[in-house]
Amino acid sequence: MILAVWGKSLAYVCFLTLLLRGVTGKYNKNTRKSLPAMPKLITQHGYPAETHTVATDDGYILTMHRIPYSPLSNSTDTARPVVFLQHGLISSSVDWVIMGPGNGLGYLLADAGYDVWMGNARGNMYSTRHNKLSAMLPTFWSFSWHEMGVYDLPAEIDYILTNTTQKSLRYVGHSMGTTMFYVLMSKKPEYNAKISRMIALAPVAFLRNTKSPFASITKLVPSGVSKQNGAI
Ligand SMILES: *[C@@H]1O[C@H](CO)[C@@H](O)[C@H](O)[C@H]1NC(C)=O
Ligand SMILES: *[C@@H]1O[C@H](CO)[C@@H](O)[C@H](O)[C@H]1NC(C)=O
Repeated sequence: MILAVWGKSLAYVCFLTLLLRGVTGKYNKNTRKSLPAMPKLITQHGYPAETHTVATDDGYILTMHRIPYSPLSNSTDTARPVVFLQHGLISSSVDWVIMGPGNGLGYLLADAGYDVWMGNARGNMYSTRHNKLSAMLPTFWSFSWHEMGVYDLPAEIDYILTNTTQKSLRYVGHSMGTTMFYVLMSKKPEYNAKISRMIALAPVAFLRNTKSPFASITKLVPSGVSKQNGAI
């Protein structure tokens, strides 16, 4: 029994080490160098790609990436149904296209006739700018998925609907991308009217029943961050 518990804990520690190495380590730097950045990652496959920036009400400048249409479709000017893809924890818009055409959800949806928009939550590699704060300041990082739901999503959704002159969009969230959505809809329910369909991949609503050792790591998060985080 004790051995099993130790084995499990060891597995978690190994996983965490690999995860941290992936975020900060040499491995990730080399991998990153060999991949073109967005939006070239998309255009290298012959798909059109756009970069848009939008400021949130609390000053964060977010980057969104877009595949407006697929080269497999013939016309470029018809209004396409809009789909918005929101990545999960420690991720970015790259998630949706890294697998390449025929596999990445961004390409598959573009091929199916959608106008594909991909968000980047505050603090990820594409969204580290702010109207006043430098990303070197701790105050820049004083947020959780509460702010991502209350500020980031409304700014992005409103920007997309204005740009495409459409009334609603389809929302696909992965993991934290679903948590942000639930925060938005519980705090600003009027946004329901702007979503025609929501698809939750690996949804996360509450963490309080989590038994994984990871849950105890969240207790190490400074209280200013975790206090605002109603889900924990
Ligand atoms: C595009 O046009 C070609 C030739 O008219 C046609 O064969 C093809 O099915 C069209 N593709 C799509 C996705 O509509
Ligand atoms: C949407 O964004 C594109 C690219 O920035 C721009 O050319 C276009 O004018 C915008 N459309 C509207 C309706 O704002």
